[in-house]
This record gives sequence, structure tokens and C-alpha cells, in this order.
Amino acid sequence: MSSYNTLHIKEIIQETPNAVSLVFDIPTHLKNDFSFIPGQFLSLKTVINGEEVRRAYSISSSPNDDFIQVSVKKIADGTFSVYANEKLLAGDTLEAMVPEGKFQLRPNPNASKNYLAFAAGSGITPIMSMIKTVLSIEKKSKFALVYGNKTSEETMFFRELLELQTTYPNQLFIEFVYSQENAEGAKFGRIDKSIVNYALKNKFDAIDFDDYYLCGPETMIDSVKEVLIENKIANDQIHFELFTSSVAVSNDGDTDGISKVEVIVDDESFTVSSDKQATLLDNILKADIDAPYSCKGGVCASCICRVVEGEVNMPVNNLLTDSEVAEGLVLSCQAYAVSDEIKLDFDDA
Ligand SMILES: Cc1cc2nc3c(=O)[nH]c(=O)nc-3n(C[C@H](O)[C@H](O)[C@H](O)COP(=O)(O)OP(=O)(O)OC[C@H]3O[C@@H](n4cnc5c(N)ncnc54)[C@H](O)[C@@H]3O)c2cc1C
Ligand code: FES
Repeated sequence: MSSYNTLHIKEIIQETPNAVSLVFDIPTHLKNDFSFIPGQFLSLKTVINGEEVRRAYSISSSPNDDFIQVSVKKIADGTFSVYANEKLLAGDTLEAMVPEGKFQLRPNPNASKNYLAFAAGSGITPIMSMIKTVLSIEKKSKFALVYGNKTSEETMFFRELLELQTTYPNQLFIEFVYSQENAEGAKFGRIDKSIVNYALKNKFDAIDFDDYYLCGPETMIDSVKEVLIENKIANDQIHFELFTSSVAVSNDGDTDGISKVEVIVDDESFTVSSDKQATLLDNILKADIDAPYSCKGGVCASCICRVVEGEVNMPVNNLLTDSEVAEGLVLSCQAYAVSDEIKLDFDDA
């Protein structure tokens, strides 16, 4: 469902010179809808300079908190991130969709598991939610974190992490990595192959990890995954979230012309004349249909829908599993119409 809810910002916390946390009050009647699993994100919507803007932000609070928090790092010339850091005030409102996302750590009070996370920059946000939740719910589990930033000053949740480490000395283990600061007890450089090998074979070699969580730039995720796989860690133990994709989507099919696309969204049905050279999502939005989306870059899955009839082409897919594709699911921001008639269902995806 693509419906948004109005949330009030009850507090804005300056986390670093370039990052803020937005703390939302969740009204009682929305508490169930906004319950979430650590790792999930909110799609936020607002109007900036007269243009509607939608962006995804991972939830950095824990489900145990009585609020929901997202944390936004300012990107140079970024639309929403600059607005959030420089213009938003406590008391303002934003539109938010209910929590989404398959990057999840589902806590279990009886579990005795070991987790290793690699995060860089704002990639800490979903991991922060996981850490706080594991420490409070899974008393027998251990969480190790390798966390890369330019400097300690630019490190989101720096103090909070140190405090958690002091409170949970036998459960939380952190290796900070700085690319622009030499600090005692921290590694200098970036999270690259040598740091991953150091974490696995030296720093945390006494711990047998069950699951690995990665969040940060695509280059970091790629090199961490590569080393984990070299170290015989199975693919299904490795979970990752991309915030942006380096691959720009373009139609690799030789399709041209117009397709008649029936779209079901929020229990309503619409018919759209779709240019086969533009993505399905762009065609749908051009027709003023309020289909769900957030990143438009194939990394958030907000735009997922089911192809009920007809053929589509999805040249780039970094999110859906083979079985999801086989059962007819597509990312509408990455897919193009092939057949002349198509039926898409956003409600059954
Ligand atoms: C599932 C998901 C969860 C996310 N969670 C968070 C989060 O918790 N915290 C957070 O700060 N961001 C998060 N993001 C990224 C966020 O959605 C925005 O993409 C980011 O804030 C930039 O938006 P903007 O409007 O400021 O920049 P835009 O106006 O969209 O882009 C401005 C310029 O910056 C470039 N750019 C966009 N994003 C990045 C980036 N991440 N790094 C470097 N350059 C970039 C663009 O290519 C463009 O050139 C998440 C994204 C996804 C898909
Ligand atoms: S809008 Fe994010 S994957 Fe399509």
C-alpha cells in the first residue's frame, strides 16, 4: 500500500556536524502500523522548493523505544539531506510510509548468536537499531562491529556506542576505522580487504559468527562480501543494504512503442499508455498515479509490484531473489514494458 501518514518530529538531535537524527512521535492509533524489525527503513515524503521529494531512511532506534528515529547525513548538494540538516525543526511534520525493507535482524530472546557488522558513514543507522535491540533482547548473543568514518568527530552515535560498550562489555565489541585521523585504539584507513581479514582472523577470531550485516557504500559492501566468501562464509549468512546504486538503469531490450498497462494500487485500477523506452514506474508517475516508490534506483524495493499479465524486462536487479522474480515480482523503477498489454498489481506484492 502506498499510503503515507503524517508524523510529527518531536526532537532533532545533532549527531555530528553533518548529521541529524529526526525523532518522531508515533500516535497511539499508528503504533501497530509503525512496529518494525531492526534494519527496516521509512520512506519519507515532503515538498521542498515546490517539488515533491521522497527518500528512504533506515530506522536507527530500537523497537523497544516509544518513538521512531531516523538519522540523516548531509550529502553535498543533496535535496532532502540538506533540508533535514538545515531547515527542519522540532514540531514540523513529514509524511511517512510504514516501515519496509528486507534487511532485517529479527531478535529472539532465546537466541545465543554471534553477529558481525561492517558499517561506513550513515550505513551505521540500521546496524545501530540491530545493536541496541540485540543487547537488550538477546542476552546470550554477541555483536561485533567494524565501523568506518573519516574522523571520530564525524562518527554518528560515537558516544552512544562507547557507552553501550561499557554497559555490555561481554556482548558488544567495536573496531573503529578512520580514514582521516590517527586515533589510539582505532585502525587507520578504510574498510577494505585487509581490515575485513584483520577482523575475521585477528580482532574477532575467537568468535564464531552466525550472521554478517553490511551497510555502506557499494564499494565497501562489494569488498567485504568478497572477503567473507573467500573465508567460506555462506551467501545466506551475508545480509546487506545499499543506500545508492552505481548502476544507472537503461532499457537493454529492442522494444519500442506504447504498451497499455493496467495498474492496481490501493484497491483502485488505472490504465496507462506506457512508453516502452521509459521505466514502468516513470510511466505510472507521469500519469499521476500514486504508486509507491522511494529511491528510484533499484535499492529500496518500495516500488515492487506483481506482473499479473504480460511480459516486462528488468535489466538490473540487485534485490529480488530468483524465486521472487519467478513468481512474477518486479521492481517497477527498473522494469520496462515488453508486451503490448500488461497488468501490474502493487497491492499483491
Ligand atoms: C533503504 C535505504 C535506506 C537509507 N537510509 C539512510 C540513512 O539512514 N541515512 C542517510 O543519511 N541516508 C540513507 N539513505 C540514503 C537517502 O535515501 C538519500 O539517498 C540521501 O540522503 C541523499 O538524498 P538527497 O535528497 O540529500 O540527495 P539527492 O538530491 O538525491 O542527490 C544529490 C547528489 O548526491 C548523490 N548522492 C545521493 N545519495 C548519496 C549518498 N548516500 N552518498 C553519496 N552521494 C549520494 C546523488 O547521486 C546526487 O548527485 C538510504 C537509502 C536507502 C535506499
Ligand atoms: S523505488 Fe527503490 S527500488 Fe524502485
